[in-house]
Amino acid sequence: MDLIRVIEQKKLGNALSKEEITAFARAAADPATPDYQLAALLMAIRLNGMDARETADLTLAMARTGDMMAPDVGGLPVDKHSTGGVGDTTTLVLVPLVAACGAKVIKMSGRGLGHTGGTVDKMESIPGMRTELPEEEIVSIVRRIGCCVAAQSGELAPADKRLYALRDVTATVDSIPLIASSIMSKKLATGAQGIVLDIKVGDGALMKTLEDALQLGDAMVDIGCKAGRRVTALVTGMEEPLGSHVGNALEVGEAIDVLAGRVQGPLLDVSLLLGEQMLLLAGLAQDAQAARGLLLEALHSGKGLAKLKEMIEAQSGDGAVTQDTGLLPRAAHRIAVKADKNGYLHEVDATRVGLIAQSLGAGRLRKEDVIDPAVGLVLLKRIGDPVREGDLLAQVHTNHPDRGEQAAQALLQALHIGEGSVPKAKQLYAVIAKDRREVV
Ligand code: URA
Ligand code: CA
Repeated sequence: MDLIRVIEQKKLGNALSKEEITAFARAAADPATPDYQLAALLMAIRLNGMDARETADLTLAMARTGDMMAPDVGGLPVDKHSTGGVGDTTTLVLVPLVAACGAKVIKMSGRGLGHTGGTVDKMESIPGMRTELPEEEIVSIVRRIGCCVAAQSGELAPADKRLYALRDVTATVDSIPLIASSIMSKKLATGAQGIVLDIKVGDGALMKTLEDALQLGDAMVDIGCKAGRRVTALVTGMEEPLGSHVGNALEVGEAIDVLAGRVQGPLLDVSLLLGEQMLLLAGLAQDAQAARGLLLEALHSGKGLAKLKEMIEAQSGDGAVTQDTGLLPRAAHRIAVKADKNGYLHEVDATRVGLIAQSLGAGRLRKEDVIDPAVGLVLLKRIGDPVREGDLLAQVHTNHPDRGEQAAQALLQALHIGEGSVPKAKQLYAVIAKDRREVV
């Protein structure tokens, strides 16, 4: 099919037929297609949108440009996906917890993107850990122990890989049908039958407003249902980093502390909310309360932490980190960030915090950059906490004292102290499933 005609249709604001959309996805996966035609069509979609039918057609067509896994893992495979946040380590907390409750989890994860961290980078801070695994090995690990967190292979939805890279450099990332089809094409290709989506909303997230987050949730749930999968989306807050640690090894350490029962708070709370939905989709609990009971039992008995150790060892990593987080890489220097006035922590600029961690070496500025697993920062106050002048607000972990000083100064600017108390940041905003949409 002539791609120019497809571009022409979308330029005029018309809905594309299934055939036109399939031609687009195939062209995206074909290296012979020039970037400029794909870029023109992406911009036409960004400006003129796509309806629910077009979005679902695009998702399936993109998924089918690569391998479609149909893994036999000895149960219904469930997956969870976050649209990306700062200090968002729920995967490392909830995957072992739900696996300890009997779920089968194939978790294909990405690397860091912009100011947000990626689970694969975090996992690779564990000495020896392998994340680039062949499909057969992933399936065999899941069959044996219930979970595996692996890097997404290039064979999954290659059309998305090409389009995502083009969107990044043509200002077309922020399109709800393009985001929904991009994420869901990869989820459908991994063969997940139950999919829990964590749609982050707030200044540290891709979706800045509740309205956009709800629209994205509706679009993704609709795609999943049309493809015959069970999907539930939660909209959760990203006004401040979810955990207190930002940086690869630091976040792994925090996830271990949570699983060991040493740390409570929003990271655990959101992990439990997502975990409940995974157990429900897997058919392992009758209702959310029963699911929570199972998860808390796995947490308090230490079964969740033991499962993380098993998973790390199955992927050749040093499982002893789960008993001693001191075995994780550590930065040479720590720089204190202290409050310069009395008041309450009113606001955290979450994107800025992510960018500061990136500048320390926790993320990449260019694709080929090598990250430093040890560096990052720890926030000691949350929105709503009272603060006195001289209190420790945060700690910068760095291997370069100069960079660390700059980061510490920037961090002070990203933490806004004001007069008068303010409420804590909200965690759960909405639950979206096939037949219900509850805004809480
Ligand atoms: N993550 C993706 O995989 N795709 C998007 O478009 C946005 C976030
Ligand atoms: Ca904020």
